[in-house]
Amino acid sequence: MTVTLWVVGGPGCGKGTQCEKIVAKYGFLHLSSGDLLRDEVASGSPRGAQLQELMSQGLFVPSDVVLGLIKEKINKGKEDKVPGFLIDGYPRELSQGLEFEKEIGPVDQVLFFDVANETLTKRLLGRAASSGRVDDNEETIKKRIAVFNEKNGPIVEHYKDKVVKINAEGAVEDIFAEASKAIDAVNKV
Ligand code: AP5
Repeated sequence: MTVTLWVVGGPGCGKGTQCEKIVAKYGFLHLSSGDLLRDEVASGSPRGAQLQELMSQGLFVPSDVVLGLIKEKINKGKEDKVPGFLIDGYPRELSQGLEFEKEIGPVDQVLFFDVANETLTKRLLGRAASSGRVDDNEETIKKRIAVFNEKNGPIVEHYKDKVVKINAEGAVEDIFAEASKAIDAVNKV
């Protein structure tokens, strides 16, 4: 069975950090919406320039663009018979989740890494010096957190039977142990 997991949580909650470990353990295909968008920007396409403008302000890019990029990779992953899909940073709002299920298929589990706003800010400012990301600055971080706090609640409410909320304030390995326990419950091989 090929499982589909969504990974949600505020900016800097550790989605990317945990996904790297999950991929190493389970061999899932990792699709980070942010990375897919940054690749599009790096390609130098006119669409990339528009995406960069929105991302630098901490705003969402058009949902159809993100879903299109994800869908393309999923179709390829299906051909390659990957054991699971790890969709990181999607959905960002309920409509994105509903659209994914309509266009691609049902989700099996939603991993929600829960971290306080202060911790998010501290982690992202800590990363800012080395990340080179246009959105890792104090003003944009504030906006990203505000957008997350406004939009994530309805996702968690709608998918409450599939959401596993993990306190992600602690050490990376402890958080990963919790995430693994959750994944083992749905990843029946
Ligand atoms: P995206 O790239 O997804 O950014 P994000 O959600 O803001 O998350 P980050 O990648 O910044 O952080 P993360 O949670 O992966 O944490 P990380 O592991 O790196 O999206 C960027 C933008 O793209 C959006 O703002 C939007 O414009 C657009 N976009 C993306 N998806 C979209 C969508 N679906 N629809 C519309 N627009 C979309 O960790 C952060 C730091 O903390 C690192 O330095 C790490 O080492 C450290 N750290 C991690 N875990 C711990 C720990 N347990 N303890 C201490 N430090 C830790």
